[in-house]
Amino acid sequence: MKILVITGSAHKNGTTALLTEQFIKGAEEARHEVFRFDSAFKKVHPCIACEKCHNTDTGCAFKDDMEELNPVLLTADAVVFVTPIYYYAMNAQIRTVIDRFYANDSALHGNKKTALMITMADDTMESAEGAVASFRGMSNFLEWEIAGTVIGVDCVDVDALKKTDYPEKAYELGKNI
Ligand SMILES: Cc1cc2nc3c(=O)[nH]c(=O)nc-3n(C[C@H](O)[C@H](O)[C@H](O)COP(=O)(O)O)c2cc1C
Repeated sequence: MKILVITGSAHKNGTTALLTEQFIKGAEEARHEVFRFDSAFKKVHPCIACEKCHNTDTGCAFKDDMEELNPVLLTADAVVFVTPIYYYAMNAQIRTVIDRFYANDSALHGNKKTALMITMADDTMESAEGAVASFRGMSNFLEWEIAGTVIGVDCVDVDALKKTDYPEKAYELGKNI
């Protein structure tokens, strides 16, 4: 399978980076081809709902790093989202990329698996509920099959994450997606 992994964090060695690396390790061991897009290090303009993408045949108004992502997004067999929780939601960097799916949403429907991996400081699920609901809604809308989730509570930093089994769960998700 061709798997696209989209991350949100600006921490190159943070908690979501560790989950991402573990997921990719498992996926590559299972002989999947992985393409990683680190939103925090890309230039992606927020969608402004100008509707140029839907009303013309010249695509999105913004010619930025989505041009690198879109061919992979359109052909991927699976799309995996990895984000820290910021104020009870996915972070802005990954949300900005997801909003830009709008330019291709008719072509994106169906025929994909998807997964979500999250880390957060709180030790209950409360902080993640909005992000999980958003992910489920989007997956339902796009008719993507949810292959799994790893929701890392009580993971304020890498030291905390390493005391949990979430890295192992991320690896297993990659191996079995
Ligand atoms: C701006 C900001 C907002 C945050 N909001 C929350 C929150 O609402 N709930 C929570 O549990 N953790 C929150 N956190 C903690 C992060 O989710 C947590 O430290 C995570 O491990 C960071 O992931 P990273 O190392 O991959 O960047 C917040 C962190 C930042 C910087």
